Amino acid sequence: MKKASVRRFLAAALALTLSASLCACDSATERDTVKIGVSVYKGDDTFISAMMESFSAAAAAFEEQTGVRVNISIADANESQATQNEQIERFLSLDYDVLCVNLVDRTDAGAIIDRARDADVPVVFFNREPVQEDMLKWDRILYVGSDARESATLEAGIVIGRCEADPKSIDTNGDGIIQYVMLEGERRHQDAIIRTEVSVETLKLAGFEVEKLDGGIANWSRDQAAALTETYLRAYGDRIELIICNNDDMALGAADAVERLGMDFSNIVGIDGTERGLAAVREGRLLGTVVMDLPAHGRAIFEAAYAFATGADPADTLDVLPDRSVRIPMYIGTCESLEIRDKRERKPSDEPYDFIAFADDFA
Ligand code: GAL
Repeated sequence: MKKASVRRFLAAALALTLSASLCACDSATERDTVKIGVSVYKGDDTFISAMMESFSAAAAAFEEQTGVRVNISIADANESQATQNEQIERFLSLDYDVLCVNLVDRTDAGAIIDRARDADVPVVFFNREPVQEDMLKWDRILYVGSDARESATLEAGIVIGRCEADPKSIDTNGDGIIQYVMLEGERRHQDAIIRTEVSVETLKLAGFEVEKLDGGIANWSRDQAAALTETYLRAYGDRIELIICNNDDMALGAADAVERLGMDFSNIVGIDGTERGLAAVREGRLLGTVVMDLPAHGRAIFEAAYAFATGADPADTLDVLPDRSVRIPMYIGTCESLEIRDKRERKPSDEPYDFIAFADDFA
């Protein structure tokens, strides 16, 4: 496929989603203090903890700008839905104004929504998307996250871009087929399911022949991914031409295994754009990653929570889709695109769209 047509293909496949605006929620009712109770599925998840830092930074910036006190309490559910439900009960009994919930089990939002509705405390879900049936239960709930299809399309775009530039760098044995292994996140997570499927589908739709050598679930974890990859590398050696990972931590784990076995291989792609993931791309240990705009995630979660807490409608300031979700854009991070991006000065007025368009030049 010619470069221009690949670009057109990706652009069409992406159907770009929405930007979160950066406003200071000035339509909301005046308040002295707002109490936000947050529960995360697992406190030591790299991506989630970075998201929480962005969220706290957004709240701190807002406090400084407006003088409103924002009281945030973040609880770690430690992968237990029962623990998360207790944390929700506690926030409700302490009269928190709004809840922000990163579900342990995304199919289990119903009970939380019922309790919150009884107490008339709105909920902003983030990162782990409740099922549609639950999202329809109440109009004072919202989901903030990214579009899993978009991330997978861009992840495949990294590979396509590399093949365009130098086919032999991916198809190392020159048989016209990309032999790959797949490292997947948690079993029932929407991002893991969709990313696994769409990344490969995108490669096929772009005209590449692919062959899955092996794959498995590594639960977003660097250690689990390193262990699995070591097994694959021992079994298939240099027949593996590409390792597709549902997130950066697993991509880093794959790179750890490569290094442990003293191999020279970096055709590994991830998603998230964590600090370590980006460093590994810059060092050439990973081929690329899809960079989530974490500050935009943090701002959108905070903005939605503040609007709800003060009786305003988050849709006044955020692009809320008909399914009650706000989707945060993302961009491609390869050695080349990051280098050029680093040199480009980002103005505060820049919309995340600019960065997608910009990154698309490298697809
Ligand atoms: C995904 C992310 C993973 C992990 C997971 C937790 O979107 O790519 O790294 O954080 O969410 O739900």
